[in-house]
Amino acid sequence: MRAVVSAHLHPSRAQCHPTRFPFGACRFVSDNTLLVESHAACGGHSTGRTGGSGNPARRLAGVSRAAALWQAAQVFDTTADLAADRARYDRATAHLDAPLALVDLEAFDSNADDLVRRGGGKPIRVATKSVRCRGLLERVLARNGFAGVLSFTLAESLWLARSGIDDVLLAYPSADRAAFAELAADPKLAAAVTVMVDDPAQLALIDAARDGGEQEIRVCLELDTSLRRFGGRVRVGARRSPLHSPTQLADVARSVSRRKGFRLVGLMAYEGHVAGVGDAAPGNRLRTRGVRLMQSAAKRELAARRAAAVHAVRHVVPDLEFVNGGGTGSVQHTAAEDAVTEIAAGSGLFLPRLFDHYTSFSGRPAALFALPVVRRPGVGVVTVLGGGYPASGAPGRDRLPQPYLPRGLRYDRQEAAGEVQTPLLGPPADDLLVGDKVWFRHAKAGELCERFAELHLVEGDRVTGSLPTYRGEGRTFL
Ligand SMILES: Cc1ncc(COP(=O)(O)O)c(C=O)c1O
Repeated sequence: MRAVVSAHLHPSRAQCHPTRFPFGACRFVSDNTLLVESHAACGGHSTGRTGGSGNPARRLAGVSRAAALWQAAQVFDTTADLAADRARYDRATAHLDAPLALVDLEAFDSNADDLVRRGGGKPIRVATKSVRCRGLLERVLARNGFAGVLSFTLAESLWLARSGIDDVLLAYPSADRAAFAELAADPKLAAAVTVMVDDPAQLALIDAARDGGEQEIRVCLELDTSLRRFGGRVRVGARRSPLHSPTQLADVARSVSRRKGFRLVGLMAYEGHVAGVGDAAPGNRLRTRGVRLMQSAAKRELAARRAAAVHAVRHVVPDLEFVNGGGTGSVQHTAAEDAVTEIAAGSGLFLPRLFDHYTSFSGRPAALFALPVVRRPGVGVVTVLGGGYPASGAPGRDRLPQPYLPRGLRYDRQEAAGEVQTPLLGPPADDLLVGDKVWFRHAKAGELCERFAELHLVEGDRVTGSLPTYRGEGRTFL
């Protein structure tokens, strides 16, 4: 596709996409030529959320005119790339019926490289909940810069360890007694899997579940990363571990190391309010400013407390093996802390829509799903089959999948993403025929894999293979 900057006026509002471009310009695409025009003829229209890492509104926030011009050029490229990607995905999957999910391997690998680069030499531990496909986990683990996985249930951890992954850190406490009995009975599993603890009661549960198994259980302690102000009356961060101070952590470290059958090997502190909250939300300057202020205070406070916590725990256990921290949105900040030895990340591989708006990084959407157009209720509307795959977390529009390609489709506010059908509005609807594919991005990464049994692997404009998801392997851990 050719990119042309044009000063002429486009004929009507109907031909003007609802995506606002820099300097109040808007776009439409005709005859393989991207035109960028002023709003003089259409009179301007409301700003649509563009989503995607190439969101021009976000890119232009607070930049100089020279930088804006340069960035505008990137926007043209991005738009052309997206049209090319759509053509590529359509071509690659022409022989396949939707619904289907794909992973663009070039984008996936480039995102993996970027995580490693941002890690600055510290290994990346892959968060499995954000991938949920064993084949892709193996692909990532084969790359330089990745080491071990961060799993989400004990049953999953045992399954991964049995399949050959020899370094599995379970990131969340478990109450799965049967799985603890298996772990305690099997030297290979016990050597590979480390479980999360933040309370001596969890140690008691494990001991009660052992069922005679005498293997030493590897333990990691979790530090609460939340930012507390005004004597704890204001608190920012997920409610995870109760262990907030270095002293509390050292006390539990002592309990673990005194208790027979357990070995304290690591410390984890995940700052979700930094790593999982975008600091460049488009169209909401006040919120963006608030998030940035909060995050810089949180980073400062946590860096000092994490270092003190590691120091305190090392006093009890000098040969601590690792200190894990971070997530996709904070890789380089967390890696810069001397106390941290490894970074956890997963979402950055698929780059779902919730990771579009960060100043610290951008990547390429690598996991998409396609839904088929099944009917055309009227002008400017198509209906696709399925689509109601909201992501977990506090409900909101940002939890919905993003209608991604073709650009310019949006939900009907009355219906949003439906259980078995989803109407989509916008000018591109009129170019879609029954049987065409509409491509979506999930709001979160691994949850997509709970909806599809396999991921088609796209290289260039061909599907070169497919891999079963956890679901495709008959595994539903949560
Ligand atoms: C303990 C822990 N570490 C790291 C992450 C970051 O994972 P991701 O990079 O997929 O956002 C998470 C996500 O929830 C987490 O729970």
